[in-house]
Amino acid sequence: MSNVRGEFSSRFGFIMAAAGSAVGLGNIWGFPTQTASNGGAAFVLAYLVLAFCLAYPALMAELVIGRHGQANAVSSLQKLTTSPWQKKFAFFVGFGGIICAGLILSFYAIVAGWMFSATIEPITAITSMDNATLWLSEQSLTRDIIFTGLFIVLTVLIISKGVENGIEKWSKRLMPALLGILFALIAYVMTQEGAVTGLKAYLVPDFSSILNPELLVNALGQAFFSLSLGTSVMIIYGSYISKRENLVSLGAFVTLIDVFIAFVAGLLIIPAMYVAQAQGVEIFAADGSLLSEDTLVFQVLPALFDSMGDIGLFVGFAFFALMSIAALTSSISMLEAPVSYAVEKFALGRVQATWIIGALVSLVSLTILLNFAALFGFVVSITTKFGQPLLGMLCCVFVGWLWHRGKLLKEISEGCEQVEHTVFWKIWPWYIRFVCPVAIAAVFLNSL
Ligand code: TRP
Repeated sequence: MSNVRGEFSSRFGFIMAAAGSAVGLGNIWGFPTQTASNGGAAFVLAYLVLAFCLAYPALMAELVIGRHGQANAVSSLQKLTTSPWQKKFAFFVGFGGIICAGLILSFYAIVAGWMFSATIEPITAITSMDNATLWLSEQSLTRDIIFTGLFIVLTVLIISKGVENGIEKWSKRLMPALLGILFALIAYVMTQEGAVTGLKAYLVPDFSSILNPELLVNALGQAFFSLSLGTSVMIIYGSYISKRENLVSLGAFVTLIDVFIAFVAGLLIIPAMYVAQAQGVEIFAADGSLLSEDTLVFQVLPALFDSMGDIGLFVGFAFFALMSIAALTSSISMLEAPVSYAVEKFALGRVQATWIIGALVSLVSLTILLNFAALFGFVVSITTKFGQPLLGMLCCVFVGWLWHRGKLLKEISEGCEQVEHTVFWKIWPWYIRFVCPVAIAAVFLNSL
């Protein structure tokens, strides 16, 4: 089977794909709105510390498991085990991650569908297709079903093309486009009145709130979601990395890019909120707290775009196109997790497996859409607040406790011969053994 497995063709290709998975709605929407509702710059600081001190080591654990296993998540984890109970445990973690990735995709596709329809709306507005514009702007079940379906089909089309011609090729195209749009929008917003006030709220921390447990829980959850951890996605991506590559620096690159883009997205969104305020849009709720989450993206920002006159249509289009691209490079990684498992486990063809799993995910999305109030928040919490931290922690346990240290060193040394003498190797194995599981468990228990 191994000779039909794909592999990333270049270092740049892997970095774009893994960063594409990491950079998504979590960075451009989640991070700024969390920052806005968790006290501004103090949250940014906590996030930076947690991303580098807990999420990066956990990311390394997943990448190294995958590259060693050269297989889907379940088989890669099982390769590290020696006894039957350990094999069951490996199945639980690997398969749990795959289910988690599928469930995340099912709600992510709904949100991404909203982004698609918001991208098209300015086009119908410019071309005076008034009925279409009205239909796109009003929440309806039909609209949501159509755009969620469209998003899943696009994801399926990319994934069915495989690693090099699908994931890598599209990530290499979409990620630079995303960066370009992001910087163009920032440049524009900075010229507007109110931007500087927003910049201060974003960058000047109020240290009194930094040890607030809720802030820490939110920051860790955000860091895990953002690096796509605990869902076997990074195990799979790790399995497509060549043995010649230096894993330690690849993982560091991906973390840096992810954190950088979240930070830069904050430079856009938070000042944009204050620009909106300067133009008369409400950004504070009655109790004085900042409006956030969906109100921010679907009311505050569109109100800002409206107030700009005709150019607002272009800015709105660029903004939602940015969101859609970010969502797509992430969703392909979520779909790859179950697809790679199905292909290797049931000996299905890739195209067939991708369409079958795409159909299953669509069914779950449809169920969520039909019972939106009851299910949407529930699926989000269960996957991102429970599944991801728990499974991410268990991956650390695998590497720290079940994997023989000499063998671990051998795997890490491939592509990085001197690793034994680096600070990384002096700290990381112990760190992943004790610090990561305990810290993640503490934060996790706190969130209960
Ligand atoms: N990291 C992505 C974001 O920030 C979301 C994401 C992609 C993800 N793949 C994932 C989250 C796998 C959890 C699991 O939006």
